[in-house]
Amino acid sequence: MTASAHRGAILHCLDDPAAGAEAVEYIADGLLVIEEGEVAAVGSYEEVAPGVPGSLPVTHHENRLIVPGFIDCHVHAPQLGMIAAPGKQLLDWLETYTYPAEMAWADHAHAAHAAGDFLDALLRHGTTTALVFATSHSHSVDVLFEAALARNMRLVAGKVLMDRNAPEALLEPPARAYAESKALIERWHGRGRLGYAVTPRFAPACSTDMLDVAARLLDAYPDVLLQTHLAENAEEAALVARLFPEARDYLDVYERAGLLGGRSVFAHGVHLDDDARGRLKAADAAIAFCPTSNLFLGSGLFDYGAARDAGLRIGLGTDIGAGTTLSLLATMGEAYKVAQLRHRTIDAFEAFYLATLGAARVLRLEGRIGNLMPGKEADFLVLDPAATPLLAARQKTSRSIAEGLFVLMMLGDERAIDAVYVAGARWSDPARTGRP
Ligand code: GUN
Ligand code: ZN
Repeated sequence: MTASAHRGAILHCLDDPAAGAEAVEYIADGLLVIEEGEVAAVGSYEEVAPGVPGSLPVTHHENRLIVPGFIDCHVHAPQLGMIAAPGKQLLDWLETYTYPAEMAWADHAHAAHAAGDFLDALLRHGTTTALVFATSHSHSVDVLFEAALARNMRLVAGKVLMDRNAPEALLEPPARAYAESKALIERWHGRGRLGYAVTPRFAPACSTDMLDVAARLLDAYPDVLLQTHLAENAEEAALVARLFPEARDYLDVYERAGLLGGRSVFAHGVHLDDDARGRLKAADAAIAFCPTSNLFLGSGLFDYGAARDAGLRIGLGTDIGAGTTLSLLATMGEAYKVAQLRHRTIDAFEAFYLATLGAARVLRLEGRIGNLMPGKEADFLVLDPAATPLLAARQKTSRSIAEGLFVLMMLGDERAIDAVYVAGARWSDPARTGRP
């Protein structure tokens, strides 16, 4: 049996911090015991250590913070190479930069290389699980899942469905989209730590027949997810109103198609009213809040307070390449600022929840990941709260765990990720170790 133990300060959410003070557990001198890639025990060193065999290797992470691996609820694998593309808003940005980058994935070798680089970049930033858009090429999902399998990562991804309003090379007829998606689900869903998400890109790129393909796949496979974009940008929303005149609003396009349900993860939802939020809640659908993307593309300020008050499940998404960082620590900081602009305060534990257990709930994976309770898969990070000179100086005056975490999310990024463990095994960064 492979087992190990990690000693250090431990922080994780047992529930939504809104549920009360017990929802967040901080253990100043903790011990995390891992067996066969899963958490076997967690608690104070004093309590847990006596039950651990003397032969077990214990790594002592002094002056560090052990937290669950971060979970990115919305990210595009083929777009990492065109992050920070200047000067456009959503629809022009897609035409100018995004679709060409996705067309380059037609080349299998390029896609395979990019997929591996993408997953290593996620891990380098402390993200151990993500909900990922591939491209419309079937092999884009194969290369991502092969790369995830090689790293033993828990990953959810899907082939992008599009049959209009995009370059011909990325489009396909609905019947082919159905057959290829079905084959991918059968090949990959549930294998290792992999899961499939049916992925219609967004309403403007899908005919009603293509949306119907997505609905039929969801019907046929009751535990796959659905991921798409919703009400991101005003010009996009106006286009949707023209393309679907029968729909009462953007969400209604998906609702009519049978795509609004408890397995649906909608990216953005910037331009929604209370009625739409109520329908999302009634369906138990989830939102991926992507602050850096919304700021970068000038899409608008997500009404985080209204979404929380409506009781929606919410997670954070980096939305690379429209987002400007793969770091969920930095994304927590940007979420705070976006909420501030709408007069809502996100405290540090709440932001941390959005990137860990809350995100696991968005992905319906809270039984497997999201915190470090016994039985969960042992995806965790060792953070250095004083990773930079500025952080180190500022942490000296932090008076509480919450304040220290807040400083980390406002000033921290991938530099604060000291070590990443995937299913209990330490991930070694190929950029540092020189692995091919
Ligand atoms: N809407 C449709 N496709 C995309 C995409 O690739 N990125 C973002 N941010 N929005 C989209
Ligand atoms: Zn997106």
